[in-house]
Amino acid sequence: MTILAHFTLACAALASCLPSSALAASIDSRAISPWTNFNNNVVFRPPADWTDPRTLYARTLQLSDKSLLATCEIYAPDDPLSLPIFRSTDGGATWKEYIRFYDKVNGWGMRYQPFLYVLPQDFGGYKAGTILAVGTSVPKDLSQAYIDIYASTDKAKTFNFISHIAYGPGPETVPNGNKAIWEAFLLMYQGKLVAFYSDQRDPNYGQKLVHTTTTNLRDWSPIVDDVAMPYYDGRPGMTTVAYSKKSKKYVMTFENCGSEKNCQVNYKVSDSPLTFASAPYSPIVSNDTAQVSPYGSPYIIWTSKPGATDGSGIFIANGNYDASVYINDDRALPQNWKRVSINQKDGYSRALRIISNTKGQQKLLVASAGNFGEPDTNALTVGVLDVPS
Ligand SMILES: *[C@@H]1O[C@H](CO)[C@@H](O)[C@H](O)[C@H]1NC(C)=O
Repeated sequence: MTILAHFTLACAALASCLPSSALAASIDSRAISPWTNFNNNVVFRPPADWTDPRTLYARTLQLSDKSLLATCEIYAPDDPLSLPIFRSTDGGATWKEYIRFYDKVNGWGMRYQPFLYVLPQDFGGYKAGTILAVGTSVPKDLSQAYIDIYASTDKAKTFNFISHIAYGPGPETVPNGNKAIWEAFLLMYQGKLVAFYSDQRDPNYGQKLVHTTTTNLRDWSPIVDDVAMPYYDGRPGMTTVAYSKKSKKYVMTFENCGSEKNCQVNYKVSDSPLTFASAPYSPIVSNDTAQVSPYGSPYIIWTSKPGATDGSGIFIANGNYDASVYINDDRALPQNWKRVSINQKDGYSRALRIISNTKGQQKLLVASAGNFGEPDTNALTVGVLDVPS
């Protein structure tokens, strides 16, 4: 994690930083027809008296019945904290809080960085279709942390603890040297579930990116580095990974933060999601004359290319402080990032997901829960649009 003190810098580098009045206007509530395209629909608007940033770090999921789930961090006065999971059965037009993602084992609360994942196959004693939920469980005094994994076998009505993925002896705060852990991301690969996360526990690095694997959801392997800079002050952070079925390449995005860096979004390409350490990294820079980059908290997905009949697809990435998405083809070459405006609110760790509508069409679901330092506008918002190309 990096709590971005980079807003001024990032905005200086971008044409797209909107004034906050424009953001406020863009997330007014309004009636939306089921299963249509829309932008900036409010899922949840936090009470005004919550602590800044009030909401942050959106994540989504679609279940096989086409219902949608959305969750985010909340900065509520509750102790212990829990993470709300909202549900929509009409393509994101209307939402209700459905369940809380509770810490059931540490007595601390579930505070940071939810991630939702549908098991694509039977695994670890759970059937395909089981919902896995990961979050960072942290006590109110931020003294330590677990990244924990839970499962729901009843479509998110209840979640039960499975195992601790990682322990951080703390403090669970950003300064280098504090043994914090953050931002888990899950991916199945060759019979293993991989959990990627950010790690401040290694005394040689301010922060590095690592992964661990499991074959049974209970026992987790020793960690393997994915990105560690060759200097202490590096803070590569916030792994997400996407896979192209066409090129068979895995692409990992991360924010390149630290005292010498400005959180420009970078990426690596690898034949395996377990060997990112040896892959070179490049920044995402738009291939138009403006040469724009996203800064901070990236997210990447892959989907088949609209209209393509040969199986080819596109990677779609985004980062903070830029409402646009960055599209690349299956090779993910550095000169092929095309920046496309999508008219959705930007956000810290804005989530991208391909969903299927009632006609079986693929749509892009974008979910933002706002940013630090936006106390008048933070809300959990979603947009649904045609897959850009
Ligand atoms: C930018 O990249 C896209 C692929 O994502 C490619 O189709 C396009 O031709 C590139 N544009 C330029 C100016 O190179």
